[in-house]
Amino acid sequence: MSSKRVLVTGGLGFIGSHTVVALQQEGFEVVIIDNLSNSSLDVLGGITQITGNTPEFENIDLRDKTAVKDFFEKYEDIEDVIHFAASKAVGESVLNPLLYYENNISTLVYILHELNKKPSAKFIFSSSCTVYGQADELPITENAPVKKAESPYGNTKQIGEEIINDTCKINVDFKAIALRYFNPIGAHPTAEIGELPIGTPQNLIPYITQTAIGKREELSVFGNDYPTNDGTAIRDYIHVMDLAEAHVTALSRLINGKEKNNYEVFNLGTGKGNSVLEVIRSFEKVSEQNLPYKIVDRREGDITAAYADTTKANEELGWKANRSLDDALQSAWKWQKVVEKREEEEN
Ligand code: WQD
Repeated sequence: MSSKRVLVTGGLGFIGSHTVVALQQEGFEVVIIDNLSNSSLDVLGGITQITGNTPEFENIDLRDKTAVKDFFEKYEDIEDVIHFAASKAVGESVLNPLLYYENNISTLVYILHELNKKPSAKFIFSSSCTVYGQADELPITENAPVKKAESPYGNTKQIGEEIINDTCKINVDFKAIALRYFNPIGAHPTAEIGELPIGTPQNLIPYITQTAIGKREELSVFGNDYPTNDGTAIRDYIHVMDLAEAHVTALSRLINGKEKNNYEVFNLGTGKGNSVLEVIRSFEKVSEQNLPYKIVDRREGDITAAYADTTKANEELGWKANRSLDDALQSAWKWQKVVEKREEEEN
C-alpha cells in the first residue's frame, strides 16, 4: 500500500475505471484525469458506489501540453502514473491516423516529460498484444517479435513502448512497465461499472450482449474459414477485473523495488484461446439466451489466433488471471441488463 497519490489517466474508461477500483481497494489514493471523450461522469459515481471512495477528478485533455504541466505542478506529490488515456478503435485509426498519433503519442510524451523531472517516477503503460500481429508461434511470449503494425492504433502502441524504453535508457531513476493486454472483456461483478461502447460496438462481447438484449438484430461472425478447429478466429479473452488487479501488482512491483530492470514488459492474458463460436456457445450457456448470428466475410486486418504465454507474468510479476470466460461473460451480461434498464428509465 502506498500513502502517495497515484494518477490514473483515462481513469473513467473501461479498463481504467476497473483499475481505479482495484487500486482503492488496495489502499491507494487515486487522482483521475479524463477528457470524457469516450466515457462519462456517471462512471465516477459507479466507482464510488463500489468502494465508497470518490477519486479526485480532473477533466483535462492531455493534448494540451500546458495543462499537463500545470497538473503536475498542482499535484507535485504525484510521481506514480498508470496511463490508459488513448484512442483505441482499430478501424477508426485507419480512417483518422493523425488523430491517433496526436492523441496516443503526443500525450505520452508530455506526461513522460513531466515525470522525467521527478526523482523516482513509476509508470505503467497500457499496451496491447496487437504489437505482435499474427505471431509465428503460439502461445505468445514477450520475446515474440514485434511485427509491422496492421493499423495506426497498433503502431501507436509500438511507438509508445519504444518512447518509454528510450526514456528508461537515459534515466535509470525512471521505472516503467508495459502491459500487453490480450482481449479485455466483462464488467465489475456489482454491475456498477462496465464497458460503455459509443455507437455500434467494434468488439465482440459488447456486440454479443447488445444482440442478446435486443439492441442489435444479430451478430455477424467475421469469417469461418480460418485454419482453426471450427473455422472462426481465436483470441485470449481476459476478465477486466483480472486485468485491473495486474496493474496494481505491476505498480506495487515498482514501488517495492522488485523490478529486474527499469523497463519491463508483461503479457496479460489467461493463456487460453477461445474461438468466436466457442464464445457464442459459452454466452448462450451463461445467459440462457439464444444468440442469433450469421457468418459473413472476414474483417480486414483480423488475425487467425492469439493467446498469451503467461509464464513471465505468473513467475516474475506474481500475477495470474483467475476468472473464467464464463465469469467474464456472466458479468458482461449482468452489466448489459443494468445499462438497458438505465436507458429505459431515461427515456
Ligand atoms: C475479437 C474476435 C473478430 C466483432 C481488438 C484490438 C485490441 C484490443 C481489443 C484495444 C475477432 C470477431 C468481432 C464482431 C466478430 N483493443 N468479431 N464479430 O480485434 O481481437 O482486438 O480489440 O486495446 O488491441 O486489436 O477484438 O473483439 O474486435 O474481435 O466476429 O462483431 O471477434 O473477427 O476474431 P480484436 P474484437
